[in-house]
Amino acid sequence: MTIAPGLAGIPVATSSISYIDGNEGILEYRGYRIETLAERSTFEEVCWLLLTGEMPNEVQLAGFSSHLARHRQLPDRLVKMIEVLPGKGHPMDALQAGLAALGMFNKPPDFRDPNEVDEACVKILASTPMIVANFERLRTGKDLVPPDPELGTAANFLWMITGVKPDELAARVFDIALILHADHELNASTFTARVVASTEANPYTVCSSAIGALTGPLHGGANEEVLDQLEDIGAPANVTKWLEAKLSAKAKVMGFGHRVYKVKDPRATILQELARQVFERLGSTPLYDTALELERQMKERVGHRGIYPNVDFYSGIVYAKLGIPADLFTPVFGIARVAGYLAHWREQMQDNKLYRPSQVYSGLHELPYPELAARA
Ligand code: SDX
Repeated sequence: MTIAPGLAGIPVATSSISYIDGNEGILEYRGYRIETLAERSTFEEVCWLLLTGEMPNEVQLAGFSSHLARHRQLPDRLVKMIEVLPGKGHPMDALQAGLAALGMFNKPPDFRDPNEVDEACVKILASTPMIVANFERLRTGKDLVPPDPELGTAANFLWMITGVKPDELAARVFDIALILHADHELNASTFTARVVASTEANPYTVCSSAIGALTGPLHGGANEEVLDQLEDIGAPANVTKWLEAKLSAKAKVMGFGHRVYKVKDPRATILQELARQVFERLGSTPLYDTALELERQMKERVGHRGIYPNVDFYSGIVYAKLGIPADLFTPVFGIARVAGYLAHWREQMQDNKLYRPSQVYSGLHELPYPELAARA
């Protein structure tokens, strides 16, 4: 038997949800280019697209948006649970716990019943930002901000964490960021979602488990670390020395590299343009120049090995300008990505086969049992 570490290059599912050409830097959701969706769609449209496979018409979109708004309501006891979580703990852990607990307030949907499946998807999509926003308010000792049914997912989240209605630019920029993060074929957390789904676990558990996988710095957790890294470097003039130390220690530069993309991630290009638009309105960020210099030098040094900025490199710079605290960057990724998890849950359940790979055993056999007193 040959093994493929990290399952690199091994197809494990047939999927029609998203498509990546890693050499050309192409990403499509259900056949639509990410650039087009980012320019013309809303996060709600993209959620519908991912879940159903088609763009919603006007009536469907209006119905879906108001359905989401109606579900922006957490059970009181879930809010109490969020309140007693350690305020110094990471919000990703609060999100993971919150989603798992949400499942305790809801009957597991019958995945053969389309109405129950749709209802569970809406509930999870609407509740995920609520869990994050409530945790943020409660840990900082602030009153909860009630959701505004007139606002879309993106604007409502900004409103609920800050208590200030976002202007049109902030709301749209954040909406696009959610679109960009909504799905990305079989990344580690979506694969986790599919593995958990394959056991016929309920979708709350599926999403909670996937959020756990998203926390790691090699995956979603990188967006928070990118900002720490840029702060650690400081001025652009420090990049050369900092990078030399990193690369010679064979350490990973956060926000660079990808299992599939061997060119710049198309989402990073879009996020960079969003950063520019936000800077025009709110003023630039000194760390942006450091980021540009880091990208330039990384291209010079490791570009030939296919290591370029990924989605996490510019997202934090944008979020920080929108007033989002750094440890909410990965939860924000999660708010968007539950759309993908749910789409993959639905797809997995249409033709389910339990994930249970095999291994190459490298241990011992038939050992004589050692008496406790005789053990070294
Ligand atoms: C996301 O899969 C997805 O789709 C994920 C994602 C999504 O939308 O779901 O796109 C989101 O998770 C983006 C990735 C965020 N992570 C980071 O930014 C962390 C830094 N990047 C890496 O650690 C790394 O690039 C990975 C984990 C993202 C992917 O790496 P692989 O495919 O597992 O490859 P590897 O770690 O084995 O690296 C191969 C070589 C190594 O050098 P050699 O041992 O061959 O000499 O490339 C080097 C690595 O050292 N390398 C890097 C590097 N990334 C790879 N060297 C320095 N800095 C880096 N960032």
